[in-house]
Amino acid sequence: MESIYKSDVVIVGSGISGLMTAVSLYPRKVTLVTKRKLGEMSSSAWAQGGIAAAVTKHDSPQKHFEDTIKASSGLSNESAVKVITEEALDVVKFLEKIGVNFDKNGSEFSLSKEAAHSYRRVLKINGDQSGKFLVDYLISYAKQQGHITFVEDVSIDHIIQKENQCLGIMGHIHKNEVIDNFVFFQSPNVILATGGLGSIYAHTTNPRDVYGEAIAMAAKANAELVDLEFVQFHPTALDIGLDPAPLLTEAIRGEGAFIVDENNKRFLFEDDPLGEMAPRDVVSRSIHKHKLKGHSTFLDCRHVKINFERMFPTASQYLKQASISPSKDFIPIIPAAHYHMGGIKVDINGRTSVDGLWACGECSSTGAHGANRLASNSLLEAFVFSKRIADTINSEPPKKGHKLLNIENYIPKEKTISKIRAKKYIWQLRSAMNKFVGVDRNKLTLDQAFIEFFRIERETKSLSAKLKDMLLVSKLITFAAMHRKESRGTHFRSDYPTKNNKLLKRNVFIQNDLYEYLNNKFEKVI
Ligand code: SIN
Repeated sequence: MESIYKSDVVIVGSGISGLMTAVSLYPRKVTLVTKRKLGEMSSSAWAQGGIAAAVTKHDSPQKHFEDTIKASSGLSNESAVKVITEEALDVVKFLEKIGVNFDKNGSEFSLSKEAAHSYRRVLKINGDQSGKFLVDYLISYAKQQGHITFVEDVSIDHIIQKENQCLGIMGHIHKNEVIDNFVFFQSPNVILATGGLGSIYAHTTNPRDVYGEAIAMAAKANAELVDLEFVQFHPTALDIGLDPAPLLTEAIRGEGAFIVDENNKRFLFEDDPLGEMAPRDVVSRSIHKHKLKGHSTFLDCRHVKINFERMFPTASQYLKQASISPSKDFIPIIPAAHYHMGGIKVDINGRTSVDGLWACGECSSTGAHGANRLASNSLLEAFVFSKRIADTINSEPPKKGHKLLNIENYIPKEKTISKIRAKKYIWQLRSAMNKFVGVDRNKLTLDQAFIEFFRIERETKSLSAKLKDMLLVSKLITFAAMHRKESRGTHFRSDYPTKNNKLLKRNVFIQNDLYEYLNNKFEKVI
């Protein structure tokens, strides 16, 4: 049994990007499709930092621009950085208009300090609960508007296209994890907003559902991808064996917390004079290196004189569950995959290289973050670019949707492997990504990663859709990492440990480039 929905625009994902695009598209008829219930399992709702914006007298969009460029390690698209830093204030005004109450001291915003920002610049809501509140506000605002149809519990599997024209998407409804029905969405505009891919790594701060499915879909539709090698590891995920690992926001270090080892040594200064306030990639690499030498690593807040529970309610909750007291105990930490700077290549208005296909938020790559994202620029980028996509679509005359062609071909004919078996292989894949394509990589580890992917593929034959997508995304990242023969931002190669400005360009490719490479290089293994 299949159903077909038709609308002017279909949006996949109900985090900040999906919701913001949907509300900004008024009065176009929009269908918003989401894998769980609205806002559930989105990275946005888990965001603890907030929104970076130059809102104080001594700060300015220009200074925010300069900090962003500096953090991005030379690779950012300056136009995209200009757009996000200049439009930040409009985002804040829009959110206040729909009722968002940012934290304030009297009439002034109460701002956090995060690494590599020259000023306190991060607006937050209820301490470290910004993401949750923003998603809740947007959901209730979206529900008051009549132009959006919400379709929940649908996993999207494919983009349907004719040559380079996107005609819609197809997916399946899952009830209690069982496929119940195939669903088709016919629309001349498809917007991908499913978030990043942290969960293809064993250590991640992202929800389980966030494993790069938009990148897999776009790759299969031959869309251009860019800079996939740049995966940001957050230095301070709570290391108590939970999967995903709870995030301990950088704002805790902004309030003066130290990173130490078991001997209470602040070892970060061996790598950067900024210590705890050095850019994220530097701090994560230092911790990784220190761990490889056999040390344990901790966040130390014992000397920090703040009301921890009030400022960081989310972190406090996790610590309480683990019986850790921030005023008395060292807090064990580990770097964990947190944000993807690469993604589906989009232009300054969110258009991909496939007609009618758009992308925003973490699954897209505007170039605003270059090789390393400045903290709290991601929610900002999500708001700014979602609005830009909506404004662009609204400025054009409505297009007629094309009839979906050969839809039966998209319905899988074979039974896939059982969920339990898939889980085992998904864990093996995530572990391989952590070990071979993580904070530190080189040609040898990247080759080992490919060998491991082929083994998993061989042993699993009829793969589950999720495992298939995860394998594709893992191969694409590994391929991208193999091709950048230098170290820049979050991409560190121990066989090319320095920057090479002769290679300073964005790494653009399509899925076929990966297959050509694998066929030439691994013929025997495949
Ligand atoms: C954090 O609060 O440390 C995370 C914020 C971000 O990733 O931008």
